Amino acid sequence: CGIIGIAGQTTVADRLVDALQRLEYRGYDSAGIATFSNGSLDRRRAVGKLSALRKLLFSDPLEGTSGIGHTRWATHGTVTAQNAHPHMTDTVALVHNGIIENFKDLKEDLVSNGYTFEGESDTEVVTQLFTFHLKQTGSGQGAMKATLDAIEGAFALAIQIIDEPDVLYCARKGSPLVVGIGEGENFIGSDALALSGLTNRVIYLEEGDWAVISPDTIQLFDHTHTMVYRQEKQSLNTGALVSKGNYNHFMLKEIHEQPIVVAQTLGKYIDYSKRSIDLGDLPIDLSQIPRVTLIACGTSYYAAMVAKYWFEKIAKVPVDLDIASEFRYRDAVMAEGGLTLLISQSGETADTLAALRHAKEKGQIIATIINVDGSSMARESEMVFHTYAGPEIGVASTKAFTCQLSVLACLVLATAKAKQSLSQEDEQQYVKALEEAPSLMSMALTKEDQFKTVARDLAKARDILFLGRGVDYPIALEGALKLKEISYIHAEGYAAGEMKHGPIALIDENVPVIVLAPSSEIYEKTISNMQEVLARGGKIVLISDDAGLQGYRDDSLATIELPKAKSFISPLLYSIPIQLLAYYTAIAKGTDVDQPRNLAKSVTVE
Ligand code: G6P
Repeated sequence: CGIIGIAGQTTVADRLVDALQRLEYRGYDSAGIATFSNGSLDRRRAVGKLSALRKLLFSDPLEGTSGIGHTRWATHGTVTAQNAHPHMTDTVALVHNGIIENFKDLKEDLVSNGYTFEGESDTEVVTQLFTFHLKQTGSGQGAMKATLDAIEGAFALAIQIIDEPDVLYCARKGSPLVVGIGEGENFIGSDALALSGLTNRVIYLEEGDWAVISPDTIQLFDHTHTMVYRQEKQSLNTGALVSKGNYNHFMLKEIHEQPIVVAQTLGKYIDYSKRSIDLGDLPIDLSQIPRVTLIACGTSYYAAMVAKYWFEKIAKVPVDLDIASEFRYRDAVMAEGGLTLLISQSGETADTLAALRHAKEKGQIIATIINVDGSSMARESEMVFHTYAGPEIGVASTKAFTCQLSVLACLVLATAKAKQSLSQEDEQQYVKALEEAPSLMSMALTKEDQFKTVARDLAKARDILFLGRGVDYPIALEGALKLKEISYIHAEGYAAGEMKHGPIALIDENVPVIVLAPSSEIYEKTISNMQEVLARGGKIVLISDDAGLQGYRDDSLATIELPKAKSFISPLLYSIPIQLLAYYTAIAKGTDVDQPRNLAKSVTVE
């Protein structure tokens, strides 16, 4: 899941583990490093947190000034030290992200050449294959070419060989990889964040590229093995952005950063002096878009779902909404000249990237909303709308989500304007509402004590329901997802009106129901669904504004008051309570908030 490589001149073991620490946020279940130590390649691998690997290195240190490291999130094969990377032979150490699709065929060939295997993993096959070609061709570059020509699938590789201990080889196809430029040392990282403590001068490898790095040279090749030049970029990630500051968890810090990063993001797409939307020069005419297809995974999918309501109501454009893993294998009938908008924090999620390519093949105009600069999706789309959330480290997405909503809101208003379905006066009203969002979010963040109190009760539940209507329905779904992800309590989000068609059977005094009901034109409808729960002895947490809570401030239910907001921006505001409820419930349960079990930050496998 995370890759690091250092070709340097001073001892690297500790620095490799430090860099892996910066990649921890991506989620992993085992880790390892390899270096050229005392005349041979050697490695240390451990299951669990990096502290286990550090402990091992303390009792059994590794020398060496160049090496590679990896954090693994198991896909095939169980979580054991044997399955952890680096994989090794006498001459080669290798780490790998992604999946080699033709590994069975390659393995058969190797077996017929007398090679033997310990396990079932595709990484072991690439390691043996590289070893085979190294022997055949007699050079690292020769082995690299032959191996890359043979393997199929999506991967990022970093390799060290015994004959050239201070040289590292790496390659990318479908899985991200960057090369970092240092002073008398050079680096490999699965993202720029991994290198943030080492250098901010980075080169993003293109699809199919491979590289040979030593302490003082970097050579780059494209997929035809022709030497190429790729421009150096300045990575904006600094150590400060990836620290917890005064917070106990990254997630809590990121929840609290939202008023600032949402304002920052809105500021890029709004001209406040005119109270109007300004997306800058676009390569397409938004007035000509016949249909919008929104595609994403996980939390980003719920941002897309909110946008469907907005596009239809404000821009009057028909919208299709799809989960990326479904879309890519579904034969969607797409409108000619349609816009496909993919939403992804990382820009690397394998399913969303595949959906992007699938939509491109169908002749769609491709736009993306992305948080990570230089990511694969950003590079493959015609239009990129950035979210300015800064690095999001907590595995459970929070600030990236509200920044996605901010960009989507601006995009909807721009489309509405282009299609002349929005008067100037209405545009100003919507922009004014967006302008108010950050300060309303700040006000919601001051209710922390109330969330803590409610969360203590939620932590005792086995199942929890979230209800919402209209634009608050996706927020109910996101609330349930957040809670599941970090507290491991089973939770479901439901459209408030749909509850009577099934989930109401679950209601008893042990199932808390969290109702998101800002006072709006559909408030009464949501409240009558809440009454149906109350009538069956259900336990309610009602989240609304002052007007919406009138008549409910008694002991029959728990309430949390938020400031009154225009319905347009209620998804931004109501994200705060669902995030804080999940956070404090997880704290009450004592789970690992920033790195929940089994989850990865960026899922680069199918
Ligand atoms: C993983 C993360 C989620 C995220 C989803 C989509 O499952 O754990 O937090 O929402 O991937 O990620 P993306 O980077 O495409 O937004």
